[in-house]
Amino acid sequence: MNKILVTGGAGYIGSHCVLRLLKDGVKVVVFDNLSTGHIETLDTLKKYGDLIFVKGDLQNKEDLKNVFKEGDISAVIHFAAFSQVGESVKDPQKYYFNNVYGTLNLLEAMLQKNVKRIVFSSTAATYGEPNYVPIDENHVQNPVNPYGNTKFFIEKILDDYDKAYGLKSIRLRYFNVAGASSEGVVGEWHEPETHLIPNVLKSALDESKVFKLFGSDYDTKDGTCVRDYINIEDLIDAHIKALNYIFENNKTDYFNLGTKTGNSIKEVFSLCEKAIDKKINIEMCPRRDGDPAILVADNGKAKEILGWNSEKSLEHSIKTAYEWENNLLRKFKT
Ligand SMILES: NC(=O)c1ccc[n+]([C@@H]2O[C@H](COP(=O)([O-])OP(=O)(O)OC[C@H]3O[C@@H](n4cnc5c(N)ncnc54)[C@H](O)[C@@H]3O)[C@@H](O)[C@H]2O)c1
Repeated sequence: MNKILVTGGAGYIGSHCVLRLLKDGVKVVVFDNLSTGHIETLDTLKKYGDLIFVKGDLQNKEDLKNVFKEGDISAVIHFAAFSQVGESVKDPQKYYFNNVYGTLNLLEAMLQKNVKRIVFSSTAATYGEPNYVPIDENHVQNPVNPYGNTKFFIEKILDDYDKAYGLKSIRLRYFNVAGASSEGVVGEWHEPETHLIPNVLKSALDESKVFKLFGSDYDTKDGTCVRDYINIEDLIDAHIKALNYIFENNKTDYFNLGTKTGNSIKEVFSLCEKAIDKKINIEMCPRRDGDPAILVADNGKAKEILGWNSEKSLEHSIKTAYEWENNLLRKFKT
């Protein structure tokens, strides 16, 4: 595989991918502007193998030229993006520039150096409000917010770049990513945190915080929204399989990454209480705009074509996320 360039390698999902690649003996170049990622994460990862960090911004073409000067890059795994739905509605410009323009610059730099393989972080948000569940890859893509639009546009751009320039991509449409590395090396570290499990756990660890549950009158098993929680290490395993698939088959394709199991917010909340054996403060709030009742992935295509499966339980994701939250408190906040 020579060297793999990982954009966004200092962030939540990217850092788990870097850890896995280094453990597999692959040389990694991380390109990150540290806007939401953390230098401490990269310092930790450097202990696991051959890692070069290039600080730079996707929106700066010179920065990208520099990273490809490293040479020998055989493929790119592209995580770097802004990814908060609410923020994208308030400030779409920030999202279109960073995610779409940034990716165009990355693709340009790749083509200049004849690097023609990319694994791209797409999202279930490209489907929008589902017409049916579980959602398979044939479901129409009709995003309902600027964040989803950015990922959808990039998927279209990647199709056009394959037809015109032979650039091969695998687009992985993640559902809800959860958990931390099993040994507690890296984990989810967003400020502010918008994801369910870390927010429930933060409320457990800080008595002054109350977990806010938005909407309990949905047409679901217990009235709260149902989501598909995919373990971070399982998710990364799919990236490695996707990378191998491009190397072996030289083909463009796209896959959902989820478990095909839906858990309601109330269920996740109860599992968190059970995992840490503690009652957590909760406040029931009205629905938020734009939250579909149920989002669950049909993951059959990734199973069949990539030979991938989701293996780790939601309980494992919660346990590792809790250990990570404790680590964060100990390491960085005292
Ligand atoms: N976390 C999820 O549940 C989820 C679900 C679906 C899709 N995704 C996608 O997965 C990817 C990773 O998500 P995450 O949760 O790890 O996010 P994150 O914010 O933790 O990581 C993103 C990383 O990209 C870097 N970055 C952002 N803009 C950059 C730029 N212009 N130049 C260089 N570096 C830049 C940040 O500093 C950060 O290290 C994103 O593309 C996101 O849209 C995430």
